[in-house]
Amino acid sequence: MDNKKFYVTTPIYYPSDKLHIGHTYCTVATDVLARYHRLLGEDVMFLTGTDEHGQKIEEKAKEAGVTPQEFVDRIVEGPRGVRDLWKLMNISNDRFIRTTDDYHVKAIQYIFRKMHENGDIYKGAYKGKYCTPCESFWTESQLKDGCCPDCGRPVKDAEEEAYFFRLSKYADKIRDLLENTDFLEPRSRVHEMVKNFIDPGLEDLCVSRTSFSWGVPVDFDPGHVVYVWVDALSNYITALGYGNDRYDDYDKGWWPGVNIVGKEIVRFHSIIWPAMLMSLGEPAPKKCFGHGWLLLDGGKMSKSKGNVVDPYILAEQFGVDALRFFLMRTFPFGSDGNFSNELLIQTINTDLANDLGNLVSRTTAMAGKYFGGTLPTARSYDKEKDDELVSLVLGLREKYEDAMEHYAPHKALEEIFKVIQRANKYIDENMPWALAKDMEANGPRLASVLYHLLEATRICGILLTPFMPQRMEKLFEQIGAEENCRTWLSASMWAALDADVTVTKGENLFPRVDMDKALEELEAAVEAARQAESGVELEPQNPEKVDFDTFCKSDFRAVKVKACEAVKKSDKLLRFTLDDGTGTDRQILSGIHKWYEPETLVGKTLVAIVNLPPRKMMGLESNGMLISAVHKEKGEECLHLLIVDDAIPAGAKMC
Ligand code: MSP
Repeated sequence: MDNKKFYVTTPIYYPSDKLHIGHTYCTVATDVLARYHRLLGEDVMFLTGTDEHGQKIEEKAKEAGVTPQEFVDRIVEGPRGVRDLWKLMNISNDRFIRTTDDYHVKAIQYIFRKMHENGDIYKGAYKGKYCTPCESFWTESQLKDGCCPDCGRPVKDAEEEAYFFRLSKYADKIRDLLENTDFLEPRSRVHEMVKNFIDPGLEDLCVSRTSFSWGVPVDFDPGHVVYVWVDALSNYITALGYGNDRYDDYDKGWWPGVNIVGKEIVRFHSIIWPAMLMSLGEPAPKKCFGHGWLLLDGGKMSKSKGNVVDPYILAEQFGVDALRFFLMRTFPFGSDGNFSNELLIQTINTDLANDLGNLVSRTTAMAGKYFGGTLPTARSYDKEKDDELVSLVLGLREKYEDAMEHYAPHKALEEIFKVIQRANKYIDENMPWALAKDMEANGPRLASVLYHLLEATRICGILLTPFMPQRMEKLFEQIGAEENCRTWLSASMWAALDADVTVTKGENLFPRVDMDKALEELEAAVEAARQAESGVELEPQNPEKVDFDTFCKSDFRAVKVKACEAVKKSDKLLRFTLDDGTGTDRQILSGIHKWYEPETLVGKTLVAIVNLPPRKMMGLESNGMLISAVHKEKGEECLHLLIVDDAIPAGAKMC
């Protein structure tokens, strides 16, 4: 018999900005689900990709002076681009779709034609409002204080000949899907959709544009491009082969699939998308799960607000698995949550270093110390002391499964950590170190205690694998769990490990993070990334301290440029004649010709250190040095003289 098929998707990401921790949250959650279903033994198809058309991309490419295709190629395929990020985060997608892929473009033309031929797409004139950042059309009544109801930004008037999709025709069927099935979750989103969109009356949707060209052309009416959401939503079926011959999985039981999406795009996925499928005569998705947002200081992360958190920096500093774990453990999947670095570090320290890390390291260390790593097979079970732990561990898989089936990975983790905490308590209750004092009498009991701990760890490890695949691999190696004891089936079986299992005390799986040091390092990494992005490189600060008296010896003065000329036979040097307030002109030579034409500096007030010993350059004496700001930009050295307010008199001391 064929395995059960599970098809799960993330939204396809706009490659207009760099992806941040919020996007990573959505993809990691979907990856955890995909890995969980693989653990169940199902045939999983996990799709992600990029949504590359639309006015916003066209505008951004223009700003960057490249073609839209070059622009998206760089962000999707380039270094530290979308693909790289998912590789780093260990995302196990089976397919990656780009809406600029040829097969997808052809399939969109087919879909649009089919809906036109069946009368669900008709030509009209569009008059309304358009939010360019969200690529969304709005009617006047949908605006919030005259702005886009999704992002709050201003909208533009839009009027053009356009095609419309008869969304209104599907209002009753969509209401039925929302209200009478468990298609949309969490249930709170159903109420939101019905109240905000279905009750006021669904209006037909504008599905083509003529005012820009970066999109899929309507093949029977050149000049029109398909509305980016029709193009994007269809990816979930074109990637299976619908309307194209690149893949042929559409009729093989994958569809309908599960669409995991963020809450702001639930409207598109739970109203427009099923209506499009109804128009095509195809089944609605099995599920649309609308997760919450990761917030920063209570607000949505966005590049324009400058408050995005870079997943590369976090993964590089704390490890991919710790980051994946934190995202899933901390924020209930359907709700919003406040991200902070402190919370991330606390979670790593409490759950991973303290609870899980300690359980593994104490157990393997004791097995090594008392039995040379290999447990003896003579055992002594103590019903009173062991039953509770064993039954808790054996009941875990069911609770975990229930949570995962209800799209509540945070609850699944909560259950696992109850067991881990119980197991740590079991160590304290049984005091292996006390038993070890009399090995002859207590050897079998000690072996039992350690074996129970290994079994508890093994089962928790299996269930944690979708969250932390790489670290759990290491954990299994340390506790001596072979492939056959890492399966879903074996997660409900006690004593799957060999009775004479051999453990290895390996590297510390989850080192404790020093909060202050890590926060400082993070700050430096964020600053370095910001500089790298802007191309600005700054000289590192000098950690060596100077005492105050030494500092005070340096005499900085305001100096006014009386004359300035290039030094003959030198490309670099300028000769300054300066008023330093003493009544006698001061001559300073400075190698800054590359940045300044001498005549532009005459009359300016600069800053000089005036008590340096005189120095000869090209036969001329220099008495002091002009102060400048220096940095590098895109590898080029940049220099700016310190030019101060003309109101400062020549000779004024700087202190
Ligand atoms: N291109 C559309 C989706 C088309 S699907 C047919 C899009 N892209 S997006 O890049 O803006 O967002 C992709 C996903 O990331 C969405 O599910 C969105 O909700 C999610 N997130 C973006 N910022 C987020 C947070 N701060 N927190 C959680 N998820 C967030 O929308």
